[in-house]
Amino acid sequence: MINFQHNFSLKGEHTFGTEARVASFFEFTDPEELTNFLRSDLYSANESLLILGGGSNMLFVNDFNGLVIRASVGGIRKISENETHVWVEAGAGVEWNDLVAFSVENNWGGLENLSLIPGKVGASPVQNIGAYGVEACDCIDSVQGIELPSGNEFVLQARECQFAYRDSIFKHELKNRFVVTRVIFRLNKISEFKLGYGDLNHEVDKLGGPSLKNIRDAVSAIRRLKLPDPALLGNAGSFFTNPVVDEEFATRLKISHPALPIYQAGEGRVKLAAGWLIDQCGWKGYRKGDAGVHEKQALVLVNYGGATGREVYDLSVSIQQSVFHRFGVHLQCEVNIID
Ligand code: FAD
Ligand code: EPU
Repeated sequence: MINFQHNFSLKGEHTFGTEARVASFFEFTDPEELTNFLRSDLYSANESLLILGGGSNMLFVNDFNGLVIRASVGGIRKISENETHVWVEAGAGVEWNDLVAFSVENNWGGLENLSLIPGKVGASPVQNIGAYGVEACDCIDSVQGIELPSGNEFVLQARECQFAYRDSIFKHELKNRFVVTRVIFRLNKISEFKLGYGDLNHEVDKLGGPSLKNIRDAVSAIRRLKLPDPALLGNAGSFFTNPVVDEEFATRLKISHPALPIYQAGEGRVKLAAGWLIDQCGWKGYRKGDAGVHEKQALVLVNYGGATGREVYDLSVSIQQSVFHRFGVHLQCEVNIID
């Protein structure tokens, strides 16, 4: 099925819920439909392109004068297995949390810590989604997609995807040039539980001890307490990434700010908690008009209903400036800014 429209409103297609229009919008369910579209008169190779999933990591500051493409390929199926692992293929349009539920129901491990992350499977390799000590790349086997504008289909093995913390090749060389259509995951038949992040272990114990289901339930419960539900309050999760800095710089910062949470990031680098830095600058719970900073998580910017993308963006810039002024740390946006 294809859906092609001109002058299309994205208000209901992204989780900040701000108004933004696009010149044209093309959605497909079968990869061949995209290939045919790229060869048709409806498509012009000169147009600006944007690939959209569930819109849970986007901020539209302006209307987008180009073509938005959305891959709504469905389906989850087991494609092979051996004694220890099973390979599962999921369409780019599958809800991420439905894939996690499916894997836990089948007792296949690896994705349970990533429960309740909003968005679609197709976006999961793009920023290499992560939570509670696990990243999507721990389970991604390969990524299938279609190159733009050629329409050529190809497959990237995980080792070719340049996965890192909230990063991959899809945010660089292949940004808006490769439409992910399906992702293959390698899941564990023999469970290895990862309970080291924060109070996860404690929450799992309260549910009766480690199992895939208990981890999924505990992660979901913690997330519901901390993070706003986009269906009720517009947001895109963490607005900034946690800055990765030299250990030496962090050690100096720790002397003047002993409570600063830091995490090892390998090779003499450490990750700072951006939420803590923003919180210390007094932003938590701040509100100007309908744009604000979530009252429980300073890393999450929110739209109380009537904010524009520009207002949310301006707030994000003010936060960056104040964190830089106080700590000398530049916060980088995790959210994709469409300006
Ligand atoms: P979109 O927001 O639509 O797109 C995100 C990026 O992926 C864009 O660059 C887009 O161009 C690209 N893209 C999307 N689909 C495709 C495709 N098929 N092919 C190629 N490129 C594509 N993220 C985390 O990592 N961890 C978390 O714990 C987390 N928690 C969140 C909590 C909340 C409440 C919210 C609102 C967001 C959270 N996020 C988190 C961010 C978000 O859920 C993820 O980034 C998610 O993967 C975005 O999926 P999406 O389908 O909405 O993608
Ligand atoms: N903190 C504060 N004040 C705040 C927020 C956080 O002091 O307002 C402190 C916390 O007390 C804790 C530390 O900062 O000591 C880290 O906080 P938390 O555990 O909530 O995690 P985070 O670093 O803010 C990251 C991810 C989340 C992910 C969680 C759990 C990034 C940018 N964010 O948040 O991902 O769900 O860890 O793993 O890495 C997302 O990417 O959208 C997202 C929500």
